[in-house]
Amino acid sequence: MRDPVTATRLRSFGTTIFTEMTRLANQHHAVNLAQGFPDFAGPQFAKDAAVRAIGEDRNQYGRMQGEVPLVEAIAASLHARHGLTYDPMTEIVVTSGATEAIAATILALVEPGDEVVVLEPYYDSYRACISMAGGVPRFVTLRAPDFRWAPGAVAAAFSPRTRMVLVNTPHNPTGRVLTRAEMTEIAAQCVAHDAICVTDEVYDRLVFDGEHVAMATLPGMRERTISINSTGKTFSVTGWKVGWAAAPAALAKAVATAHQFLTFAVATPFQHAAAEALRTATTYYDDFLRDYRGRRDFLVGALRDAGFAVTVPEGTYFVMADIRPLGWDDDVAFCRHLVEEIGVAAIPPTAFYENKAEGRFLTRWAFCKRDETLRTGVERLSKLRRR
Ligand SMILES: Cc1ncc(COP(=O)(O)O)c(C=O)c1O
Repeated sequence: MRDPVTATRLRSFGTTIFTEMTRLANQHHAVNLAQGFPDFAGPQFAKDAAVRAIGEDRNQYGRMQGEVPLVEAIAASLHARHGLTYDPMTEIVVTSGATEAIAATILALVEPGDEVVVLEPYYDSYRACISMAGGVPRFVTLRAPDFRWAPGAVAAAFSPRTRMVLVNTPHNPTGRVLTRAEMTEIAAQCVAHDAICVTDEVYDRLVFDGEHVAMATLPGMRERTISINSTGKTFSVTGWKVGWAAAPAALAKAVATAHQFLTFAVATPFQHAAAEALRTATTYYDDFLRDYRGRRDFLVGALRDAGFAVTVPEGTYFVMADIRPLGWDDDVAFCRHLVEEIGVAAIPPTAFYENKAEGRFLTRWAFCKRDETLRTGVERLSKLRRR
């Protein structure tokens, strides 16, 4: 057989850092503060709805663009939250998690050679999907320690060849919540270059400081924005993989065209459960945010006590910590030491940077964990010594 077997466009990607760190964490019986999945249960009302849907025999292929109760619940939620109106039947596409929404969007809309502007560090699927579509990434770096871009960086990344910009707010891995001024700066470039804006808002219910600005609410943006979200983070059910894209009909149709050949339809019972979760959740969101704020404050304090320089996240369930005060400057070597010798797993974020030097001195920690897990991890950090 031809060697290497992987197609050129994917050859540089290999196994994701999440799989790799989780494997190492299991091998060394480490506390896994690396991968962003909760180790606690999702809300009972959502789980009951999933069991009920299976019992009611909602077990065959669903509607390709999404089961009607779910697309209606998504449209209702976007309207209640942001005052945005979407036609549930033509402007919403349900996908296998936000991950498939991102892939379908990029594959549907990016031509080979088109430029795609991406914030760096980035969620790693963005980079791979741009490559699968033959697009050319252009990076805007969010620079430590406050993770803001340099003046003029956004304008410099756009060009006449820009087809799309991928915006993630609240932002993984930095924990930034982009301000209205920053969102407006990106919006102005989109309008000036007639570019499509894709916003990944999977952490929109996890904003501790500042406000979540939905890009589609800014002037001139609804017509060119694809808003992506999912139930995984908000309802602590990352294994359900129910996500969606909301966009004007022509863009939604393009996304659905790709979606129908990637997965065709998403697990039917989980779609019905997601619809019920969205309809039922009211006070749930407040409790959810309060609990996460407590976890954030605990981990930030503990990482500082352990000697890291920590940037307090404004949103998401991740925190970035600088390892230089501990005498390290190589994230991969540090994370290997951490998992093998200290018994705790974190993510080396150079995996999310094209300009590796920007992230080499950082580590990413996930606090979507039970108090007990966080406490055990933090106790182990007391073994960390300055090199
Ligand atoms: C920024 C971002 N987008 C998308 C996803 C994936 O979402 P889903 O599990 O719904 O595919 C994640 C998961 O970690 C993420 O952090």
